[in-house]
Amino acid sequence: MSQRSRSTNTSLSHRSGSVALAAIAVVWLAACAPTDSGVTSPPLPGTDVAPLVGMTAAFGEPFRNLTADQLALFTAGKDEFAAVEAVDEGLGPVFNEASCQTCHLGPGTAVGGTTGRVETRFGRTRSDGTFDPMTEFGGSLIQDHGIGPVTEGGAFTFVGEVVPQEATVIAQRITTQLFGLGLVDAVPDDEFRQLAQLEAATSPATAGTPNMVFDIAAGRTRVGRFGWKAQVPTLHQFSGDAYLNEMGITNPEFPDESCPQGDCGLLIHNPLPSPPPNDDGSGVKKFTDFMTLLAPPPRGALSLQGLEGSGVFALIGCANCHTPALVTGSTPVAALSGKVFQPFSDFLLHDMGGLGDGIVQGVATGRQIRTAPLWGVRTRARLLHDGRATSLDAAILAHDGQGKRARDRFAGLGVRARNALLVFLNSL
Ligand code: HEC
Ligand code: HEC
Repeated sequence: MSQRSRSTNTSLSHRSGSVALAAIAVVWLAACAPTDSGVTSPPLPGTDVAPLVGMTAAFGEPFRNLTADQLALFTAGKDEFAAVEAVDEGLGPVFNEASCQTCHLGPGTAVGGTTGRVETRFGRTRSDGTFDPMTEFGGSLIQDHGIGPVTEGGAFTFVGEVVPQEATVIAQRITTQLFGLGLVDAVPDDEFRQLAQLEAATSPATAGTPNMVFDIAAGRTRVGRFGWKAQVPTLHQFSGDAYLNEMGITNPEFPDESCPQGDCGLLIHNPLPSPPPNDDGSGVKKFTDFMTLLAPPPRGALSLQGLEGSGVFALIGCANCHTPALVTGSTPVAALSGKVFQPFSDFLLHDMGGLGDGIVQGVATGRQIRTAPLWGVRTRARLLHDGRATSLDAAILAHDGQGKRARDRFAGLGVRARNALLVFLNSL
């Protein structure tokens, strides 16, 4: 990594179709990014920060350079994202919360972050070793709320689901931040494929693989990038998925109710054999608009010590998976089109050994997890997929499998390098 980063004298204003170019930007760009304290560090020679985006909007704000129409879409989308749904609007019969914002809020009042709300998945291993998501028991995702008594056509009481005794795998998933995900949505599949090839060639021991998942709107398999397992290909699809699976609101791509504890017989109170979905697609579109136009986390102040830490980050192999920079493809939204951005993730799956959660999604095995993006990490109280870590130290020391070598190198750092690395992470 350090060898590649030495050759950063290529101008980043040229897209040149190369992931390598974005990757070599490594952490040097960090030195030039405007910070939210208003202090701008002197640019390093040979770097061009012009394509870097969104480094200045505060948490929960839209991109700075939107058109009036786009701003209106952002605001309408944000309202829908915050809207609390009621039973007569389709909430339930089982659900997790009544609005997206109930889980996706913070830091402070910033809409789109995380409250740290955790949800539960379960499953079991079949005798042939394959994973059974136990859909007949309501798996793999638990909906821990129900709408209570329903009298229409009969008396039903829907309560929250519980993990069935038959389950052998139980995993917690913490809510992620959504800041800047429009940029991730705008990265072409090929760029992730090329990044995986680049990793296989330059750092085979830590190389990631793309999750391949079905894109319902496109009608074909695509590179997944959203969720802890990169199990969803687009923000649009995640919106429909979450509307159904978090809130119980059916919508065009997810028309079937989530059956309480897997028992679809309980849904017979519904008068129509195939009712129109609760949402005609306009709600899903609004969530997508909001998340697409939501700016990435603003960078914190970067001191000289933090700059030193960015070097440590690359040197001990963190940047092999936590890819500092990616480039978006061409999209209709100018603010997102052809931009270099710094998520500190390759959005690829890595075998994390014992840290894996045992759940299989798409081609992601039980041991594989998507590299967690580190932008905004300084604001987070709980880390890792299940929120088990309460400090950066603890999160790093829990890395296993393909992350073990970097973990060991972190553990072996002297006080100065270790502190510098933590200061750097706290600037993200
Ligand atoms: C009960 C809490 C909860 C609610 C309500 C909720 N989410 Fe989430 N959200 C989560 C959790 C937990 C994850 C991580 C899921 C996983 O990977 O298994 C997540 C992940 C996401 C992601 C993927 C982000 C990434 O890091 O890749 C998107 C997009 C998203 N949610 C959008 C929404 C939208 C839109 C709504 C409302 C329709 C919503 N969520 C409602 C808890 C919630
Ligand atoms: C082999 C790829 C790989 C390497 C190398 C790696 N990480 Fe990670 N990192 C991951 C994955 C995957 C996760 C998510 C794991 C989980 O949630 O269980 C993660 C999670 C994290 C988190 C928690 C983020 C969050 O949102 O919860 C931090 C902090 C982190 N890594 C820092 C580091 C640092 C610092 C290094 C270098 C010492 C490093 N990582 C090396 C893949 C890697």
